[in-house]
Amino acid sequence: MPTQKLQELSVKPISGALGAMIDGVDLARHFDNNRVISGVHQALLDHQVIFFRGQQLTPEQHVAFGRRFGTLNVHDYVKAMDGHPEIIVVAKNEGDTKNFGGGWHSDVTYLEQPALGSILYCLEAPEFGGDTVFANQYMAYDRLSLGMKRMLDGMTAIHTARDVYGPRGHATGGYTANLKAMQILGSTEAEKEVEHPVVRTHPETGRKCLYINEGFTKRFKDMTEAESLPLLEYLWAHCTQPEFTCRFRWQPGSIAFWDNRAVQHYALNDYHGQRRRMHRVTVNGDRPV
Ligand code: SIN
Repeated sequence: MPTQKLQELSVKPISGALGAMIDGVDLARHFDNNRVISGVHQALLDHQVIFFRGQQLTPEQHVAFGRRFGTLNVHDYVKAMDGHPEIIVVAKNEGDTKNFGGGWHSDVTYLEQPALGSILYCLEAPEFGGDTVFANQYMAYDRLSLGMKRMLDGMTAIHTARDVYGPRGHATGGYTANLKAMQILGSTEAEKEVEHPVVRTHPETGRKCLYINEGFTKRFKDMTEAESLPLLEYLWAHCTQPEFTCRFRWQPGSIAFWDNRAVQHYALNDYHGQRRRMHRVTVNGDRPV
């Protein structure tokens, strides 16, 4: 293969909290270039979520790019793209009133080994609206008081997909009738519970981050949901406050790659009557400690 001249990666922060825009890379051509991949990886660790514009990725190239960072997840409850089990199509049509990911969460924390990261590629964006907001969970931990840190450091939380993907979950049940663009499948499997530390140490940076999210965290270990809720509600509000966030405006060809170990995200549902279509691959991570 002829050697292609490669510009230096340009990495520019987009907010004071997290997020950086990367220019100077064509991922369809450069996903097999080790220098590019290590630059992208470092930018992800430094900024928690990174963005690219003007990309053109086939499903095969998207999968190949994702595999440079680990094995890829096959979603248990969202029907995959035909012929591409590792890609989910995150979509909303003109007639849909619900969207996918419209609440604060980190992806698939109901798994024993939740996601390292997710790579979302935009095929179709609404004329306005449909932005995604990201929140830095290192900051969320760092800004807690010493007393709260000490208490949370020793605590374990219970995560489950029950209320989202269980038979009566809010992404299944009646929800699918309002989100026809996607096939979301309810299952009793979603009732399984897993334990994760409330504060996890990032396996690559060694920094501590808060690791609870409103989508999947139900209670603290050895406590009831009623006992857990006041503290969980405090923490959910704390960890998504505006100063910890950045917001990304999508265009066709945009990509966001976020580190689920250190970031939560929220897909805004403010574009009724318009279409939005994305492909997502999710890179498997390790067991939080
Ligand atoms: C998600 O992966 O939660 C969806 C994010 C988005 O569509 O912006």
